[in-house]
Formats: sequence, C-alpha cells, structure tokens
Amino acid sequence: MRNIKLGVNIDHIATLRNARNEKNPDTVEASRVVLSSGGDMVVMHLRGDRRHIKDSDLERVRQEVKGIVHLEMAATAEMEKIALRVRPDSVCIVPESAHELTTQGGLKMTGKLSDLEKITRNLSKSGIEVSLFVDPEPQAIRAAHNIGADSIELCTSAYSESWGKKLQAKELEKLQLASFLVKELKMGLHAGHGLDYYNVVAVARIEGMDYLNIGYSIISKAVFVGLKNAVAEMKRLMQ
Ligand code: PXP
Repeated sequence: MRNIKLGVNIDHIATLRNARNEKNPDTVEASRVVLSSGGDMVVMHLRGDRRHIKDSDLERVRQEVKGIVHLEMAATAEMEKIALRVRPDSVCIVPESAHELTTQGGLKMTGKLSDLEKITRNLSKSGIEVSLFVDPEPQAIRAAHNIGADSIELCTSAYSESWGKKLQAKELEKLQLASFLVKELKMGLHAGHGLDYYNVVAVARIEGMDYLNIGYSIISKAVFVGLKNAVAEMKRLMQ
C-alpha cells in the first residue's frame, strides 16, 4: 500500500458555524472526526479577513486535539507572529487577495522575494515545516527551494478545472513533471485545491506524493452522507 497522506481542510465547517455565530459545528469536534476516520492532519486557512477560521479555532484545535495541525496563511507579519505563537506542525504559505472566494493559483515566485524568504526561513528555523503553494512550474519550484522552503504544495486548480480528457492529461503531466523536480530537490511533496472524488486518483498516483490537502469536496460530501441520519434522528425524537 502507498503511504500517501490526507490533510483535511475544515475551513467550511467554520463557514457553516459562522452563518449563525454559534458554537456548532465545532471545529475541535470536526478535527477529532477527521483524525479518527483516517485523515492524517487537520488543515486550516486563517485568512486576513477571518471569514471562516478564527484565531480561536486555530488555538483550540492546537491545544485540544492530538494530531498534526497544518496552517495555511499569507506571508504577512501578522500571520508569522501567530504561527510562531500557536506553533502548528506545518505551515503552507499561500497568496491571498481580499475579494477572492478561494485561493487563486500559486504564489508569484518572480521579482522581489526577500519578505517571503524571511518568513519562510524564520518559521522553518523555529521547527515548523514550511511549504510554499506554487503552480506546477519549474521556475517557481526552484525559486521556492532557493528561499528555503522545506516542501512544495503543487496547486492542482488548473488540473481540476480542466475540461475534457486531453486538457486534463496535459495538466496532469505538468503535475507529474513538477513532482519529479520537487523530489530531485529532496523536498516534501504536497498537492491540493479543487481535488474531488472524481479527479483525485490520478494525482494520488503521482510518484513521491506525500500529502494531498482536500477541503471543499469532502465537506460537501459530508453534508449528504450525514443529512439522512440527521433528518431520521429528528423525526424519531418527534414521535
Ligand atoms: N491547498 C491550499 C493551499 C488551499 O488554499 C486550499 C483551499 O483552502 C486547499 C488546498 C483545499 O482546496 P479545496 O477546498 O478546493 O479542496
């Protein structure tokens, strides 16, 4: 059996919780379910605007859950400070802009990278494994390696959004070639974004893949896997 691991992103458990500003669904409880059902780590994106995960989610999951906690964050001084204080096991640095619905592609790895390098090296030196979220492009991977990243998370958006077998095969090949380079550079290899129950298998088969980080499709499926029981239990109580 292959030793590929699954990071489960629970951002949208918080999205649902925030719809009512209640305690439920609780991110600590969600993390425990993730880890007790085969998920290998809990992934949370603390965005600058705190639209889903809040600081208290990250702090509580770190303190109350036994397991690997992976923080996705922008390369800002605020997030660096939080990561150094809360100490997730690993961090993935992602691009972030104010009005996007979700992360749009990998980090821009050209031009001035000194701020990104400083944060990457500081976190890595403090013992937090740092991955950079990049598109499957050789230049971006080499640049991430040069500024001290421990791992690469390949952005799979182009693959997951591609329509038709031909286009998808082309995007898959880019991911395969990029993975080869990541392993040649002796870095950890992660991938994610837009992976679902239909497109995951080919990516999971890429040689050397260490982690796939998946959120939206799992939380969406969870609604329908669970809705039947939830309705039935309520009906039973009403009798
Ligand atoms: N990896 C990164 C770096 C992300 O930003 C996200 C979304 O938060 C994911 C993986 C998960 O993407 P999805 O929710 O589409 O599975």
